[in-house]
This record gives sequence, structure tokens and C-alpha cells, in this order.
Amino acid sequence: MTLAIIGPFIHCNDAGELIVVPKAAILVENGMISKVIVNPEKNVKADKIIILQEDQFLIPGFIDCHLHAVQFPNLGLGYDKGLLDWLEAYTFPLELQFSNEQFATRVFDAVVKRCLSVGTTTACYFASLYTRASVILGQKAAKIGQRAFIGKVNMNVERNDNYYENLNECIKETVKFIEEIKEIGSSLVKPIITPRFPLSCDMPLMKQLAELAKNENLHIQSHISENLDEITATSEKYNLPSYAAVFDEARLLTEKTILAHGVHLTNNEITLLKERGTSIIHCPASNTCLKSGLCDVRRLQSKGITVGLGTDVSGGDSYCMLNAIRAALQVSTHLEMLNQNYKALDYKEAFYLATLGGAKSLKIDKEVGNLEPGKQFDALIIDLKTLNSLLENLKTYTLEENFQRFIYSGDDRNIVQVFVNGNRVK
Ligand code: GUN
Ligand code: FE
Repeated sequence: MTLAIIGPFIHCNDAGELIVVPKAAILVENGMISKVIVNPEKNVKADKIIILQEDQFLIPGFIDCHLHAVQFPNLGLGYDKGLLDWLEAYTFPLELQFSNEQFATRVFDAVVKRCLSVGTTTACYFASLYTRASVILGQKAAKIGQRAFIGKVNMNVERNDNYYENLNECIKETVKFIEEIKEIGSSLVKPIITPRFPLSCDMPLMKQLAELAKNENLHIQSHISENLDEITATSEKYNLPSYAAVFDEARLLTEKTILAHGVHLTNNEITLLKERGTSIIHCPASNTCLKSGLCDVRRLQSKGITVGLGTDVSGGDSYCMLNAIRAALQVSTHLEMLNQNYKALDYKEAFYLATLGGAKSLKIDKEVGNLEPGKQFDALIIDLKTLNSLLENLKTYTLEENFQRFIYSGDDRNIVQVFVNGNRVK
């Protein structure tokens, strides 16, 4: 099956620059971009040809590097507390309900469909403490057609509400989870080792999970240095030099590790993460909703850390990566307002974080992240003239202006078609 998309496209290159191509033919063979022809001659051959209309253009799909599938029912609720109280009051009570498979099935069906409809072609999910629910999320992603990392959440610190597993259960269930995700047999869906954070795990568990990740060559995800009370509690619990040092002691810092937040990292921690090749996932909306702090992405990047972007639902109040991009821009602008010497991120840099930056964080940039030949065709057709759009065209705009308007002021109504692996999923 071959597909050709003819029209303008916009993406980022490895240098982080925005590339705007007014006319091209992108040829897709069996889900992979086989050729990109700039200014094509008239007769391009393919089984299916899509010719973009005026005010339409193509961009790579968004990569949401951090979100909690089990927290979707709480979207928009509970932003009157900081992280630790928020977890106790709103989050753990909801997550407990995912021992019910029917509830899990209903929620995860909606999660995958909604994320795809807003253009998230790759999602890195925190799934559930429960293996069964976590596997259901993997099955949904495979069936509906989203590229996804699925993490069975590990927590072994005892709690009165029983929302934990003991160390043996955590390891046994994680091994079983990895097997069951493999059995789904989808190239799109992969397991990711997921210790929730050092306050809900102990060192033996984290060490065994690191060992498992190493033996199975798997990605790892967790949270780091999000909230000041959390950091204090972590340093009291572990008596190690820093938050990052806790993960390092467990051997959890690898090139395939992504850590959400990193709002309050010290220079020494950043140096350690850089040495280990570990990436940080910026979650700006969550950091504002839960009052965690203003994360300085430029500082992380300037010290050599690869940064991706996450919605962190439901710490974040939107599963739409366009909103995550805007939250990143606003946080960065606020940092500039607080410091005259600071230069805020611009919309091109924020778009990079949401696409190629995410792919590089997850070390999947050979497969996705932009529209270069050899990559999988994960892409969005953007239409600024679509009915009911917020972006009424009251004058004529250049292609780059239309792209900027979409980034700042568009929404999912402007995302008219979504492709993952060459398959149309919206
Ligand atoms: N740290 C540990 N668990 C969580 C969670 O569910 N959300 C956020 N934002 N931070 C966490
Ligand atoms: Fe999170």
C-alpha cells in the first residue's frame, strides 16, 4: 500500500530549526516515509493520493512523553492542593478503582481515542498499579492504533487503603505485564519500567526494577524533583546527596530513562543526568496547576539535557499537546518577566519539544519525530479553514503565519486527519 500526500509541510530538523516546505510530495510505503520530493512534478504515483487544500498543511504527530491514563476521569478537578496532598485527596482514590476491569476498559478506550483526536500519535503512559488494567491500556492502543509506551505502575510502600503491592508482587506482576504486552504482538506498543517515585517505592524495589529494565533492554520512567515538600521528604527518606542520586543508587538512570518534571534540579543533579544520558520531560501545565514551580527548560537544554514535553494528565489540566506547548511558552515567558536577561522559548522551540524533542527523549527519533525519509509516517493534517474553527481567516496569511496561528490559537478542530504508521486514525 502506497500513499502520497501533496502539499505544504512543516517540521523540525535535528538542529532544532523549523523547516517550512511550501510544496512537496511525501511518499509513504507500508507506513514508512520512503521519499520526500520537494516541488514535485505533476504525476506522482501511489495507491492513494491526498492533495492538501488551501490553508491545509502537514506536521509530524505530537509526542506526549508523560501522562497518567488512570487519571483522566479527574481531568479539571482538584487543583486546590500541592502534589503530596493532591495525590492523597484526589489521585490515589481514583486510581484504586482500576481494579475494576470494566471501568478500566471504558476509561482507556476514551483515553486512546481522545489523545489521537488531538494529534498525540505517540503517548508514554503511566498506566495502573494493576497488571490487568495496564494490559487493557496496551490492547486499546494496539487496536485503535496509537504508538504507546505502557507502564505498569510500581509502588511498594504500605498504605492503609491497600493501594500498593509488596516487593515480590511488584516484580512478579511487572514480569507478567511485560510478557502480556509482548503477546499483544503490536509494533506500536511497548512496555516501560515504571517506579512511581522514590516516595512510593523502596530501594530494593527500585534496584530490582532497574535490573529488569537492563535484562529486557527496556525504557524506564519516573518522576523527579517536582515539588519542594516532595524533595524534602525524599532526602529525609534516603539520606543520599540528592534526588537524582537516589535514582542513580538504584541504577535507574540510563539512556532510555525519562524523568518527568525536574523543576528544582541542582547543577550537580543535571550533570549526573547528563552523564547518564537521562532525559527530562517538561510538564508545564501540571507544574502550574499543582503550584510545583517554574521549570527552566533552557537551563536544562543548555547543560546538555534532552527535553521532551508532557501533559501529565491529571496533574495537568489538558491532554491536548497544543495546550502543553502553550503552557511551556507561558512558563518560559513568566521566567523572562522575572529576569530581564532571560530569553523565553519561542513557539518554534516549543513545537520542537512536542515533536522531535520528545522522540529524542524517548530515543525513538530514528522512527518518528519529523517527516524525514526512513521514518514512520506519524503525521497530522492541519486545516485552518475548517468549520467552527476559532481561526477565522479574516485576511490572507503566509504558511508560516498560519502555522504560528495554529500553535497559539488553534485547537483539535483544526487537526482534521491523524496518521500513525501510515494508518489514518482520525
Ligand atoms: N509524583 C508521583 N506520582 C505522581 C502523579 O501521579 N502525578 C504527578 N504530577 N506527580 C507524581
Ligand atoms: Fe506525572
